[in-house]
Amino acid sequence: MTPSTRATTSRPANCSAVVGLQWGDEGKGKAVDLLAARHDAVVRYNGGANAGHSVVVGGTRYALHLIPSGILYPGKRAIIGNGVVVDPWKLIEELDGLASRGVDTRGLMISDRAHVVLPYHKLEDGLREDLLKGGAAKAHAEGVAGISEIGTTRRGIGPAYADKVQRASGVRMGDLLRPGVLAEKLELAMAIKRPLLRELAGKQPDIDLPRLREACAQVGTRLGPMITDTTYLLHDMLGEGRPILFEGANGTLLDVDHGTYPYVTASNCGSAGIPSGTGVPMANVLRILGVMKAYSTRVGTGPLPTELKDATGDRIRERGREFGTTTGRPRRVGWLDLVAVRYSSMINGVTGLAITLLDVLAGFDELRICTAYKVNGSVTDRFPPDAIDLAAVEPVWTTLPGFGEEIGRCRRRQDLPDGARRYVEFVEERVGVPADIISVGPDREQTMVRGESE
Ligand code: IMP
Repeated sequence: MTPSTRATTSRPANCSAVVGLQWGDEGKGKAVDLLAARHDAVVRYNGGANAGHSVVVGGTRYALHLIPSGILYPGKRAIIGNGVVVDPWKLIEELDGLASRGVDTRGLMISDRAHVVLPYHKLEDGLREDLLKGGAAKAHAEGVAGISEIGTTRRGIGPAYADKVQRASGVRMGDLLRPGVLAEKLELAMAIKRPLLRELAGKQPDIDLPRLREACAQVGTRLGPMITDTTYLLHDMLGEGRPILFEGANGTLLDVDHGTYPYVTASNCGSAGIPSGTGVPMANVLRILGVMKAYSTRVGTGPLPTELKDATGDRIRERGREFGTTTGRPRRVGWLDLVAVRYSSMINGVTGLAITLLDVLAGFDELRICTAYKVNGSVTDRFPPDAIDLAAVEPVWTTLPGFGEEIGRCRRRQDLPDGARRYVEFVEERVGVPADIISVGPDREQTMVRGESE
């Protein structure tokens, strides 16, 4: 028996997960930052460079896209699991950026099974979006409902996951170290992609196969020492009883199965992505922290039932600095949608909430929360299965009193003004899950942790 096999069957470890309960950008980075100290590794299990986690450590802000935020803690492992799609060029850029700021990146390990995002995936992502944009405009002009562009990050995420599922031509990180296999797969990919891309672009795609092979070999050489079988690595850690933290990217409502399809990303963003995206059984994950903003935001297209297209929305956007970490796009903003959050909490099996950006809501006389949807004259508290249905709902509002004073200096729940405390209690009651963390500002200190601060 190898040590790894023996380790797998011993003590179950005390693992945690951080997942987003809305459309991404919930402030998961800060939640991970708070929990990382108690874990030996931070593991990404889904998504790719579409994600953007901002973490403030020691007064310095880091924006990470692919690398798990565990990298910022000396002695911790940062692991990119098999469920992630890795753009190796972006990853190297991120590694170099961290190294230039004095961060030791030797703790990073990348699954040999993780799929590679290649330049032709990004090309395809952009061309598909352009096609959808054109199609939607035409459909609109003709008075029919069209599927509009997804508003992707154009980082090649969807096409890379699609190739993984198509098999044969899907390039995995381990293939970067096997020149023969890599060459064969790229050849095959080109045979499939060239006609598709030519048709979409209306011209010959600009892909030079020998150059691409060479570029892949180069990144393989650079990343090679980090590419490993992370499934056994994780199970070895579990066997030693070492706690692991799983870091979800994007948000549950962008989940390809459970989100507002088709305006979603291409992976399982919720806790269900952990076993498939890392090889670690869910039984090891004892705590699932669901991170939610005190209001709603969304980037890209797709319905946002509580959307505010007025001065209130502008005010929340400015106060919350709601501009994308990855693309810089202004985020769409709305009041809190508790139908959506209750649904996400249910899907993820959330054991505690982290309510973030509560401070952004200071200064409003009243705060509105969507507690049900009206659909075809009847009221429901259930989240619909896709974007077409969600676009047809009308929010049913509950109005709570606001709070005038700034709360960025509050450190205990009882220090919060009545309006803010009531708001949190209302969320807890409706979702049926306690708020383990309340965040009132970007800094680590601007946080209330249940059991520690009251
Ligand atoms: P993709 O993941 O680039 O394919 O984009 C699909 C949809 O998910 C688009 O609406 C993106 O704006 C959105 N999206 C992807 N990742 C994130 C994220 O980390 N935060 C917010 N939105 C995201």
